[in-house]
Amino acid sequence: MLQVKLARRGVILAVATQFGPLLNRARDRSSGFSCFHLYFADFPVSNLAYQRCISPSCGQTFDIGQVLVACPSCGNLLDVEYDWDRAEVPKRLDQFESKWTQRHDPLNFSGVWRFHELLPFVSSQHVVTLGEGQTLLQQAELVAPYVDLAPGRLYLQYEGMNPSGSFKDNGMTAAFTHANFIGAKRAACASTGNTSASLAMYCAVSGLMKAVIFIGSGKISYGKLSQALEFGALTIQISGDFDDAMARVKEVSQELGIYLVNSVNPFRLEGQKTIMYRVLEGLGWEPPDWIVVPGGNLGNSSAFGKAFHELKTLGLIDRIPRLAVINASGANTLNQLYEKNNVRWGGGRADLAPICEFYDEMSRESRKASTIASAIEINRPVNLNKCLRALDWCDGVVREVTDQEILDAKAKVGAGGIGCEPASAASVAGAKQLRAEGVIGKDDRVVCVLTGHQLKDPTATVAYHSTDQAMFNEVLGTRGVRRASFANRAVTLPNELEEIVRAIKLYS
Ligand code: F0G
Repeated sequence: MLQVKLARRGVILAVATQFGPLLNRARDRSSGFSCFHLYFADFPVSNLAYQRCISPSCGQTFDIGQVLVACPSCGNLLDVEYDWDRAEVPKRLDQFESKWTQRHDPLNFSGVWRFHELLPFVSSQHVVTLGEGQTLLQQAELVAPYVDLAPGRLYLQYEGMNPSGSFKDNGMTAAFTHANFIGAKRAACASTGNTSASLAMYCAVSGLMKAVIFIGSGKISYGKLSQALEFGALTIQISGDFDDAMARVKEVSQELGIYLVNSVNPFRLEGQKTIMYRVLEGLGWEPPDWIVVPGGNLGNSSAFGKAFHELKTLGLIDRIPRLAVINASGANTLNQLYEKNNVRWGGGRADLAPICEFYDEMSRESRKASTIASAIEINRPVNLNKCLRALDWCDGVVREVTDQEILDAKAKVGAGGIGCEPASAASVAGAKQLRAEGVIGKDDRVVCVLTGHQLKDPTATVAYHSTDQAMFNEVLGTRGVRRASFANRAVTLPNELEEIVRAIKLYS
């Protein structure tokens, strides 16, 4: 029996870019899982949380009842912040383990909300959970030699196990919970596929909101599109790519007062922090040396940085792992800015000139992102500024990997038994590159985040393993992929017993 109590508070929707006026100008020129559950036992949250502009020179604060995706005064991104002195945070991380014995309670079953004390922006009664975050930190012995790591040193954080098949559910439960809290009736996102699948799922199961999703034309894999369609989302395909869809959905949400769940929404990133709590949990609460994550819109990397920064500030960890964010070469804005142009967070005073120049150049040349890793086919990452801050907190590095490297790494990950979609494999390809450079040491403990399930994009997988050269050329050759060195080819045989027996003896 559902009983929905909604706090109806002032709803203000403001949309701006994270760089404020400067980048605005640049842009103007271009132009089966567990049941839905609302939880009622109360968790004490007494106005602990507020929103704050991430720019230290602005730092304006806002009530959590306000719906904002940027600071109304300066246009920068917002954080959800807490008055930790008044929060009931465990003294040690292992105190969260007591919740494992209470898994009948959906709040403890959720891999996000069992860490509620570290994201206490609403009380339990508003939480909307689908049992997200039941994910695995897998020691990857078969993949470690490919990355050239010593035995026992590579781990894969498999976020494909989430209800909608990607890490997005970690963030969506948090954004959805906030939307529920403020009484929103419609939610929107632009998506390369996984955000839309996740949003559509939460809307369909809960019946609390209607989903409106924006996708670029031909830019979404069928695995993801099929989810959004079947879950009943209003699906709007626009001519253009993700960056175009992102700009448009911001405008439309503002115009119609629709709740926006893209990662500019600071509440979403609160949920994504928990991926790192579960990594720590999987490692007996000891931080690894490296977290390696694909970079698209840069929500994950931003959330991971905040998670570790907060844990360190709270005295719950003694050191912060290093962060490696991996772009696809065909969508490499972060790598270009961070590694090539040396753009840094600089205490909130990042040098905007090279950023604007880079964005202007992209506009002038009408340069569009292009990679087989469609989930990270993004040239204008909305969380760029927050990611720069995360890289600063985590002594981070950025790299880019080709589609060839992504698909080879993906085949290796799959052969190790945990399949992933192409974007996810960028993390493993990036770790391999950093290991070859000696940035990652052979004995370092490395966690690569696998962000999405293998079945999200079967086209890329089948084309890689196929003997059909025409299919290979069409799907992968056009992306500069030349070889399928780790392909597992299907064997075509006449339907004759003798031939089949001979083949099995030969191949196994
Ligand atoms: N991996 C997968 C599987 C994704 O779906 C995404 C983003 C990323 C990595 C990049 O993560 O934005 O936090 O850097 N997908 C978004 C979407 C953009 O619409 O589904 P990020």
